[in-house]
Amino acid sequence: MLTVCGSLQRVSMNRAVLEVAREMVAAAATVDDFDGLAGIPAFNPDLEGRPADAVTQWRARLAAADVVLIAAPEYAGALPGALKNALDWIVGSAELYAKPVALMSAGTSGGEHARGGLVRTLTWQGAHVVASVGIAAPRTKTDERGRITDSATLEQIAALTSQLLAVPGLDATALIDLVASIVEPLGIDRGHIAPALR
Ligand SMILES: Cc1cc2nc3c(=O)[nH]c(=O)nc-3n(C[C@H](O)[C@H](O)[C@H](O)COP(=O)(O)O)c2cc1C
Repeated sequence: MLTVCGSLQRVSMNRAVLEVAREMVAAAATVDDFDGLAGIPAFNPDLEGRPADAVTQWRARLAAADVVLIAAPEYAGALPGALKNALDWIVGSAELYAKPVALMSAGTSGGEHARGGLVRTLTWQGAHVVASVGIAAPRTKTDERGRITDSATLEQIAALTSQLLAVPGLDATALIDLVASIVEPLGIDRGHIAPALR
């Protein structure tokens, strides 16, 4: 499992929820964390074939992962620009094609728009978004050290990570139905879902 935090700030609630998720899956999965979004240059299609090392690293880490967990804040009603930029670099190289991805957004509102935008852009590049959880007002759900302690939130994160890790065992019909349950409520037709590679 590769974790990716869409927030670049040092003290981040999205990093905090990813930390919890990593601890929860540690016994069941190998976990890698990609922490290089800030080093990825602005997307330029002219450079797609000779990208910066940071882009090559990003592509390689995604390619090596069997599943991906992204946690990102919502900025001004959308996903963070740094994350969208990084995702634009892999439209052509397709490292997320048919790859299971789960989403979390910790922030004031629970990041409905950030997650909606992520579902759209990930689906457009062939990723299978299999779970999505919003964690509203996350600072009210931590202890004094900033660790998530709210039991309902911990249960949500546990359910999301179990769902994500279970996806490689699903048959094609179950997988596409699961992805449809995420994309269709957002007005995305199931025709946009990439076929299951089974
Ligand atoms: C520039 C900016 C714009 C924001 N816009 C939104 C927003 O549209 N919706 C929302 O729910 N929270 C918004 N927030 C609040 C973030 O959700 C909150 O600060 C969150 O904790 C940031 O994630 P992080 O702690 O992982 O860095 C915004 C914060 C900033 C700094």
